[in-house]
Amino acid sequence: MEKEKFYITTAIAYTSSKPHIGNMYEIILSDAIARFKRLEGYDVLFQTGTDEHGEKIQLKAKEALLTPQEYVDSIAGEIRRLWDLMNISYDKFVRTTDEHHEKIVQHIFKKFYEQGDIYKGEYKGLYCTPCESFFTESQLVDGRCPDCGREVKEASEEAYFFKLSNYTDRLLKYYEENPDFVVPVSRKNEMINNFIKPGLQDLCVSRSSFDWGVPVDFDPKHVVYVWIDALSNYITNIGYDVDVQSEEFKKYWPADLHVVGKDIIRFHIIYWPIMLMALGLPLPKKVYGHPWLLFNNDKMSKSKGNIMYPDDLANTFGVDAIRYYCLHEVGMANDGNITYDLIIDRYNSDLANVLGNLVNRTISMANKYFGGFVNNAKVNEEVDSELIQMINNLHENVSKNIDNMEISAALESVFDVLRRSNKYIDETMPWALAKEEDKQDRLKTVLYNLLEAIRVSASLLSCFLPETSEKIFKQLNTLDKTLSFKEDSVYENMNAEVLFARIDKDKFIEENCQN
Ligand code: MSP
Repeated sequence: MEKEKFYITTAIAYTSSKPHIGNMYEIILSDAIARFKRLEGYDVLFQTGTDEHGEKIQLKAKEALLTPQEYVDSIAGEIRRLWDLMNISYDKFVRTTDEHHEKIVQHIFKKFYEQGDIYKGEYKGLYCTPCESFFTESQLVDGRCPDCGREVKEASEEAYFFKLSNYTDRLLKYYEENPDFVVPVSRKNEMINNFIKPGLQDLCVSRSSFDWGVPVDFDPKHVVYVWIDALSNYITNIGYDVDVQSEEFKKYWPADLHVVGKDIIRFHIIYWPIMLMALGLPLPKKVYGHPWLLFNNDKMSKSKGNIMYPDDLANTFGVDAIRYYCLHEVGMANDGNITYDLIIDRYNSDLANVLGNLVNRTISMANKYFGGFVNNAKVNEEVDSELIQMINNLHENVSKNIDNMEISAALESVFDVLRRSNKYIDETMPWALAKEEDKQDRLKTVLYNLLEAIRVSASLLSCFLPETSEKIFKQLNTLDKTLSFKEDSVYENMNAEVLFARIDKDKFIEENCQN
């Protein structure tokens, strides 16, 4: 039977500067979902990439005394290195400066123009340069950009416009018929109230005040608005063109899930669906607007000097510790917080104490009491059933949570099993059983149950902490990733190694956080 497909995308990161841990969070989150869907047997296509055009990037390149192309090449390279460092299992990496992408964007723009969705006019408005967006007075928040809070300036230019309002009714109907289209629902309601109900304004979709963009081929003084260019990546890079589409496109489109930050939900649930309707294409099944990761409850920014970078963090704490922290910390709808202090607390309490300890204690006992050979002696007691049931429910719990975009809760359900296993050690007291000759089979059963709990947990952890999961499988000396309790596994030649050495917080802070 053919596998069901699952096409998942992340937002494509601006190549204006090196991404911080907040940007990385989105990629780790999407990676966990992609890995989980693969584990469940889906044919997954996971795309990420870089958004490389626009005035801001042109200005940054100038400051760096580089051509825009040189500048974006260097940052895009750095972004890809960071994604690789963090073990992101993307299948495709798109760059909006890819020749192929640019060509198709031109075709898309022309099609819109020819079919009357786009017309030429003049734009007067309030413009936010960093966000590359025009706003009306009523959209501003305290007179500032509603997206980034910076100052806006009056600007006017000859430009092309997209008549979004032609599609309002169809868009609202789609929302109504697909109540799961936007997660969380509150973000959709916000968009309906703030942007759709007051009447969708015609969207300015070209710029002529700078030239670092995709030229409008029939009017090359203009470049295509960066959001039209950027959003198209989801289809251009899988083989869409206006008159002919690849097999890959036919197979994977519509996307099953666009993962984007809450600040860019408007572009993904208003402009993007309208573009797709204008192209006559089906709309994505789900857009998840995730919350943000804040530094000490504050937005990370260069000017505040509070940016944390993924490579610095990974070099200090390890890749999986950072993946764990981010995934655990940010909820489905609520922002998360990151500081060194919090990372160390979480590392010690969850990774070292709960996970590391369980694996280490269990394998060490198996080695000590049975020379590393454990099979199921099947001397069961009442206390085993709750643990075994939790192991058997784990896959479904993780799956339900992931489908609801509750990724932190999904990870937590694995840790619930690990915590329950530690408690099971306290309850069964293997060291006491070891002293009694007639309890050897019971002891073996206890260790067997624990090893199965670790094995199933490690299988699911492969989505969240891939490196650690592999290490655990090596220590268990098995390749069996069955997602339920097995009656007749055999464990032999296991070796216990410390997975997460505890961090001495005071010492760490003394050594690393001195002003
Ligand atoms: N280039 C656009 C996206 C175009 S998608 C067709 C963009 N780029 S970005 O580099 O500014 O942001 C990339 C992603 O990171 C966005 O989804 C954004 O919401 C997310 N985040 C930016 N700061 C973040 C945090 N502090 N925390 C979590 N996500 C954050 O927007």
